[in-house]
Amino acid sequence: CGGSGGEEETGGEAAGLELVTEGTLTVCSDIPYPPFEVEDASAESGYSGFDMDIMQEIANRLELTLSVQDVSFDALQSGAVLGAGQCDLGASAMTITPERAENLDFSDPYYDSLQSLLVPGDSGVTSLATFTGALGVQQGTTGQAFAEENAPDGVQLVEFPSDGELWPALQGDTIQGILQDLPVNVEHVRTDSSYVVVEEFQTDESYGFAFAKGERPNLLAAVNEQLQAMRDDGTYDTIYDRYFST
Ligand code: ARG
Repeated sequence: CGGSGGEEETGGEAAGLELVTEGTLTVCSDIPYPPFEVEDASAESGYSGFDMDIMQEIANRLELTLSVQDVSFDALQSGAVLGAGQCDLGASAMTITPERAENLDFSDPYYDSLQSLLVPGDSGVTSLATFTGALGVQQGTTGQAFAEENAPDGVQLVEFPSDGELWPALQGDTIQGILQDLPVNVEHVRTDSSYVVVEEFQTDESYGFAFAKGERPNLLAAVNEQLQAMRDDGTYDTIYDRYFST
């Protein structure tokens, strides 16, 4: 609308966020991935969890409506979904990696994570080194990459598109363990204490919100700005404690 192109701190549409749908923050995520993203009929967007609550808060602060789309994690982490312009950003407990950063821009890190091995409590397995049988991983994840490098010979890796299939496969004895992000395995144990996390792997991962490479610099800056504001005013801690208080 004939603006000067100067850098004005006006917020919302006026800041040139170049949203897929005007007035809406359209977020892609692979759901379920508890406690980061789960369906929740009582939530305004229809989804809750650590990522989704942060996204709702950011949308509110930018005076946008949050709209969530459930997509394949593999296609999200490869850059395909965001590159095709399906969403403004991805919020999917996604680890910032150099490979992904070739196709995606990442926000500042918002959560630190590591890998872990989940098995039935009565399995006798005490570590990845003593694991036998079929080990489930989610396709395209850092957990899959870790398992490919570190699982002992003879362990069969079985790929699942989503934790929505992975966790039921363990509960149904189709697989004998899951290798994935620690907080998600811990959440599974919280809901079913017949399973146990027997080993943690210090992979030093940090999650970031992902954007199509080079295409949403203003939105990326706005998200980082709001993230910092949420850390400064205690909102980040309030949301964190909702899901990770001990
Ligand atoms: N943090 C891991 C990664 O980036 C797993 C993320 C899976 N996220 C999800 N919403 N399914 O590879």
